Amino acid sequence: MDTKVLSSGIRYTNLPESYVRPESERPRLSEVLVCENIPVIDLDSQDRVQTVQQIGDACKDYGFFQVINHGVSMEAVEKMLGVANEFFELSVEEKMKLYSDDPSKTMRLSTSFNVKKETVHNWRDYLRLHCHPLDKYVPEWPSNPPTFKDIVSSYCKEVRELGYRIEELISESLGLEKHYIKNIMGEQGQHMAVNFYPPCPEPELTYGLPGHTDPNALTILLQDLGVCGLQVLKDGKWVAVNPHPNAFVINIGDQLQALSNGIYKSVWHRAVTNTDKARLSVASFLCPQDDALISPAKTLTEDGSAAVYRGYTYTEYYKKFWTRNLDQEHCLELFKNQ
Ligand code: OGA
Ligand code: NI
Repeated sequence: MDTKVLSSGIRYTNLPESYVRPESERPRLSEVLVCENIPVIDLDSQDRVQTVQQIGDACKDYGFFQVINHGVSMEAVEKMLGVANEFFELSVEEKMKLYSDDPSKTMRLSTSFNVKKETVHNWRDYLRLHCHPLDKYVPEWPSNPPTFKDIVSSYCKEVRELGYRIEELISESLGLEKHYIKNIMGEQGQHMAVNFYPPCPEPELTYGLPGHTDPNALTILLQDLGVCGLQVLKDGKWVAVNPHPNAFVINIGDQLQALSNGIYKSVWHRAVTNTDKARLSVASFLCPQDDALISPAKTLTEDGSAAVYRGYTYTEYYKKFWTRNLDQEHCLELFKNQ
């Protein structure tokens, strides 16, 4: 392949060898369940007790849920998807100015997951941005398309508010004080991955993203309405989370699994590809501040339940995460109490 990124405008007729998974690791798309529905929760409901209950159930059973009437304006969502598409339609030369395979960079265009470390690549390009505080990071964001900075800044602010609201509901659903999560996490970082999955010649042989859990606290995912691709692992089976109109997909990251003492699950999820259409998703990640000390909430271990995980700082966790491959064992396993 002559370009590093996939979004070069070239339509591949064969899957390049470096993307082909060994037989035992392939997605087996015909076995994926489609009918099961991930909970859809209405955040505008007047019955807060019920909303808290729904969120608690979803976090326990699935680790995933969707939210509607979430307060992020339709305008912000549509503009975000529009400018993300425009970005990936830029010429390869323009995009390559932002290319890097160094995960420590706070702004970069990259491809696959961790190109320097992995043995098989993934059918994805992504733009990765740090988003908080905005005035620190916006200057390094792409200035092409010219509307990018304004549109993405507005989107980030609205999504952050949504994230805080969901953290409050999750705190309450664990029987914790409303601001518990926010207080533990400190001044939360916010990162974004704009994921672009071009049409793939052989979706049965590869992934957009292989099964992984998210290392952060909370993920707020916007998926392109027209194209399916996200799947979550439920009771040992992969279930498709098809896009729901005007919804965000929310998932618990590893940090909330640790804080909940394993009651809530940071579940395995993956993105698969298709032959017809490019798929876009925008993942916003809220993460603890670097020196936040993460450990199971005291009240969840007071009844004599042992603390499943030891205390650690988020910096320690994040370093460990990036030294590994995406599809290894759950990173939290390495932080269990003996
Ligand atoms: C991620 C992720 C899923 C998707 O970026 O961590 O899981 O559907 N994305 O793009
Ligand atoms: Ni993820």
